[in-house]
Amino acid sequence: MASTEFQSLQGMSDLYAPEIYLWRMIEERARTLFNSYGYEELRTPSLEKLSVFKRSIGDTTDVVQKEMYAFKDRGGRELALRPEGTAGTIRHLAGRGEEGLNARVFYMAPMFRCERPQAGRKRQFHQVGVEATGEPNPLADAECIALQQNLLEVWGLTDSTIKINSRGTKEDQKLIAENLQRLLEPSRSSLCEDCQRRMDENVLRVIDCKNPKCKEIAATLPEMRSFMTKESQDYLNTVIETLSKMGVVVEYDRSLVRGLDYYVHTVWEITHGALGAQNAIAGGGRYEIALGKKGIPGVGFAMGIERVITALEACGITADQFVPEGGTWLISLGEAALAENMKLARELRNKGVRCGMELAAKSMKAQMRKANREGAEKVIIRGEDELTKGTVIVKNMEEGSQEEMNLEDIVRNS
Ligand code: HAM
Repeated sequence: MASTEFQSLQGMSDLYAPEIYLWRMIEERARTLFNSYGYEELRTPSLEKLSVFKRSIGDTTDVVQKEMYAFKDRGGRELALRPEGTAGTIRHLAGRGEEGLNARVFYMAPMFRCERPQAGRKRQFHQVGVEATGEPNPLADAECIALQQNLLEVWGLTDSTIKINSRGTKEDQKLIAENLQRLLEPSRSSLCEDCQRRMDENVLRVIDCKNPKCKEIAATLPEMRSFMTKESQDYLNTVIETLSKMGVVVEYDRSLVRGLDYYVHTVWEITHGALGAQNAIAGGGRYEIALGKKGIPGVGFAMGIERVITALEACGITADQFVPEGGTWLISLGEAALAENMKLARELRNKGVRCGMELAAKSMKAQMRKANREGAEKVIIRGEDELTKGTVIVKNMEEGSQEEMNLEDIVRNS
């Protein structure tokens, strides 16, 4: 049996080359795009007070009830590893006073949910997300969705679908809940166990339950928007119309609810065909998060990087396309050349050249073998002769050709 001594925890992965180069492409392109939309990077701690998540995500949500890594620290304080990025972001922005009420921030960070691991579902996963506070109007929602569509484009991700719905205002939600409870009561015993509980605690979630019987029952219910005020219905229509004018295609989905309680009005999700049961690569929406006396309005989204990677790979975009070129390998024949090459390596690296060498005197054969293993494109060889002449032998590994060059030229032209 393979030793578990060196394995990371179940549902959590070590990330390293070559795959890490796909991660870096995702992060770098996202940073550039966010910058063009005026978003600034925010890094909040992974650990927060449990209350930060409870009061914003909602006490009765699956995330809070079943999935959080929550514990008491040595001082008896109730803490939790963040299961998502919105709650901590708003906690931070609320502390920045007026400035925080009209801010645009993005984050790229690990999140933690103690779920049963399966394909596409991890216990530590990573989100790239944005939050924009202030501007509680449909144009802000449309711009946020358009930004997300842009992100898919810069990553080269095709074949995804943006599904959109509205949960209305908090008042609408009360009315929706009352009506759903009334309409679902006769079918209560036919619902799954979770939904029977949701009937009393969080009835909106019955609508997007994946259980076939619950789905069948939910399909007989009127759409959520039929219980909303005209203003709320207009809000959703404006978001969809604005996006259509911007050339962003979205699909209205009456059964989309989202699992976090802070949402009001627009909610959306992006799915991709290459993923199995866990097919959401992203989720987002408008929200209102009450912190202290203030209710902070905002809109944002988060993309799950692990799932984005699965989708990218299905589109033929893989890590090896982003692995840096092989670079240069220095070969030293003798102790004197070794010492001189330490200096040369430093000069080349200062010029940004990816450059490596053995740090002990070894045979030519052993050093060439290493250069090959490292995928070097160019090898620079120096021995006693070259040191005396102030030259180097440069070998092009692909073509197999080699020539003698002046040391100064090598440094100057690198
Ligand atoms: P969420 O839908 O819970 O929304 O998560 C967003 C994305 O994170 C999902 O679509 C999925 O790609 C990824 N994700 C979630 N759980 C896992 C998991 N266990 N393993 C792998 N990937 C996962 C939020 O977190 C909201 N904070 C989004 C938001 C931001 N809404 C407004 N602003």
